[in-house]
Order: sequence, then C-alpha cells, then structure tokens
Amino acid sequence: MRTQVGIIGAGPAGLLLSRLLSLQGIDSVVLENRSRDYVEARIRAGILEQHTVDTLTAAGVGDRLRREGLEHSGIHLQYPGTRHTLDFPELCGRTVWVYGQTEVTKDLIAAQLAGGPPLLFEVSDVVPEDVDGDSPRIRFTDADGTPQVLECDVIAGTDGFHGPSRAVVAAGSAGAQVWERTYPYAWLGILADAAPATDELIYAWHPDGFALYSMRSPTVSRLYLQVDPAERIEDWSDDRIWEGLATRFALDGWEISTGPITEKSILPMRSFVSAPMRRGRLFLAGDAAHIVPPTGAKGLNLAVADVTLLATALTRLLKEKETDLVDTYSDTALRRVWRCTHFSWWMTSMLHTSGDDFDAQLQLSQLRRVCSSETAARELAENYTGLPIEG
Ligand code: APR
Ligand code: PHB
Repeated sequence: MRTQVGIIGAGPAGLLLSRLLSLQGIDSVVLENRSRDYVEARIRAGILEQHTVDTLTAAGVGDRLRREGLEHSGIHLQYPGTRHTLDFPELCGRTVWVYGQTEVTKDLIAAQLAGGPPLLFEVSDVVPEDVDGDSPRIRFTDADGTPQVLECDVIAGTDGFHGPSRAVVAAGSAGAQVWERTYPYAWLGILADAAPATDELIYAWHPDGFALYSMRSPTVSRLYLQVDPAERIEDWSDDRIWEGLATRFALDGWEISTGPITEKSILPMRSFVSAPMRRGRLFLAGDAAHIVPPTGAKGLNLAVADVTLLATALTRLLKEKETDLVDTYSDTALRRVWRCTHFSWWMTSMLHTSGDDFDAQLQLSQLRRVCSSETAARELAENYTGLPIEG
C-alpha cells in the first residue's frame, strides 16, 4: 500500500486532517486501532470555538452542526451570591457553539466513509518507521490479522495521549522535552435527560468545590462536579450527585432541573506538553502532543488548530516541494499550545477549591475582578472563544 500521508488515529485530529488534505487533492490513509462503534461512542467535551466551526464548515462537515448545534454568546461565572454573565460578542465579537465532540467525530467518519480516503478500523501493532528519511512507512496488522506496510511521504501522529507516535518523535529529537502537571482534583461528569435550567453554561466556584453546568441539546444536560481523584463512581448515587450539584449552583430564585442520569464517570485532570511536535517526516497533532484540563474547553479546539496548520504545511511540502511551513510547524503550533495551556491552567486554578482558605480568598478576588473589570473579562472571553490561528 502507498499513500502521500499516513495518518495514525481516527480521533477528530486525524479525521479532520485527512479531510483537509483531500480537499487539497492530497491522498491519505487513516489507521485506527479501535472499532467504529467504540470511536463513535466515546463521550467527550462539547464546546467549539468559532474557528473550529468555520473550519468544519469549510471542510464540508458543518451541516448537522449548524442544524443541531447551539450557538452560545457567553458564559455565567458564579460564586456564592453572584451569577455574572460574560457577553462574548460584546467583549470580543465572537461566539462559541455547543456540539459534542462525539457528534463531530460521527460527522467526520460519515464523510470519510462516503467516498473519502480509506479509513481502516481495528488495526493493531502500528509502528511508524524510517521517519528521518524521505520515504517513511507504517507497519501494522489489519483487522483480518494480516501484516501490512503503508509506504508514505509523510506520517501524521494523531493517535492521542496513549498512541505510539510521541515516543518515536522524542526518541530521535535532541532536546525533546515534556512538561506535566497533575491536579489534585478530578471531574465527576454526568449526562442527564433533563432540559438545561440555564441559557448559558455556568462555571461555579463553591466552598465544596467547582461545578459546571453544560448541555448537549434542549433536552439533555451535561454536568460536572469537582471531586477528589481517589473517589469511586460507585459511591456516588444519583441522589448524591444531584444534591451536590444543587448545593454548588444554588442561587435565590433559581432551581436546577433533574432527570434520569444516562452516563456517569470520573475524569482525571492534567496539563501535558511534549516538544518538539515533529521528527523528520513524522508530525504530531492533537492529544498525541498535549493535554489540557477541560476547564477552558480547549482540547478539541487545539487539536483542530494543530491540523489546520499541519494541513497547510503538508500541502506546501507535497505540492510545491517547499519545506518552510513544515520547518516552522512545531514552533508555531507550540505557541498556541502554551497559550491554551496557560488559559486552561488559569481557569482550573481560579475555580477549583483546594481546602486552603488563602487560595480561596485569592480565587474569589480573581472572580470579582473578572466580573467587574471589562479588561479582565475581555481577556477571558478572547481566550475562551479562541484566538486567531497564526500562520
Ligand atoms: N494505532 C492506531 N490508532 C490509535 C493508536 C494506535 N496504536 N493508539 C491510539 N489510537 C487512536 C485512538 O483510538 C483514537 O481514536 O487515536 C485516536 C486519537 O484520538 P483522540 O484521543 O480523540 O485525540 P485527538 O484526535 O487528538 O483529539 C483531541 O480528544 O481527548 C480529546 O480532549 C481531547 O478534545 C480533544 C480531542
Ligand atoms: C462539556 O459540555 O462537556 C464541557 C463544556 C465546557 C467545558 C468542559 C466541558 O469547559
């Protein structure tokens, strides 16, 4: 088998890259080790920045998003006694969209299977090889158990945090470095068949811990509670979860709406950055190179920003034989990665309680500042809705 770009991983990063390349007339093959059902059932975050919506629309996968997605013009920031609205169009002229990453993935897979480049599920033993030369290849075993070799011009490692590509980049790059922070809290997330009792998402600081009120549709709510990472989901009955949420979102004259919980799980939180994002002809994008905690809603958007840059750089390399953009890809991508890493860390640090009262007073001071200063609010709004993509 031969292709121009061998893509490892069919998450949003790999699928969108394949789509953007094919719009430029560049062929690719996507290799995924999980099944289609598994990939389409993974529940993840759900806020799309304006540039993400624009990119998906330009790539021809924005129809259902425009139909079923919910455009949001702000968020509510809450701390005891106050629920303050940040109006994004007023602060920075942009909006965001609520549309689950699961749905983005389904739309990309449907488009790929309807005449797009090959997408192979349930492959195993994926190994990128000879990435320092001009003719790298990917060895893998296909779903029938037959060993295969995919000869490529370039390989994209979009295989998420647990994929094999990052280690190959690090092993051959002098000065390769990793930065990591694990946080002393986790999120307990639920999906519930309950109409959201709020127009905008609510990010709530409370002495018991952070809570986030999000949604997936006019009839489905997505809610999160800060918990200790050692908590076990079995110890959280539906009643206990609703009580915790009602306490943390409490506000005079307002009531939470409850309904059957259809999914619940505990998610760890970490920041992680790996540099460089390239070794020779192997390029990393998305979770393969970086993880942010979900508080800033940046994970998916950052993956989309990476592949937007990468698609342009690979098009220039493969069509015009110019190496300038692939040579600057890692540094350019990492500048946005660090901006989003800072923003996600900052939102996380402002909103999650640690039990330390000095920290709590600093957090409340920061929240009052964001809710009273247009300058401070604008800084949050610009980062939340997504800064322009460089390059
Ligand atoms: N071979 C083939 N595919 C692999 C391998 C492997 N050895 N290891 C992992 N994969 C696949 C995973 O099964 C997954 O489908 O790579 C894909 C990576 O997808 P994601 O984890 O969704 O990562 P990415 O596409 O970068 O999307 C980033 O996902 O985790 C969220 O918050 C994150 O929203 C962000 C988005
Ligand atoms: C979500 O809807 O899942 C969601 C929304 C905002 C976040 C994180 C997750 O910051």
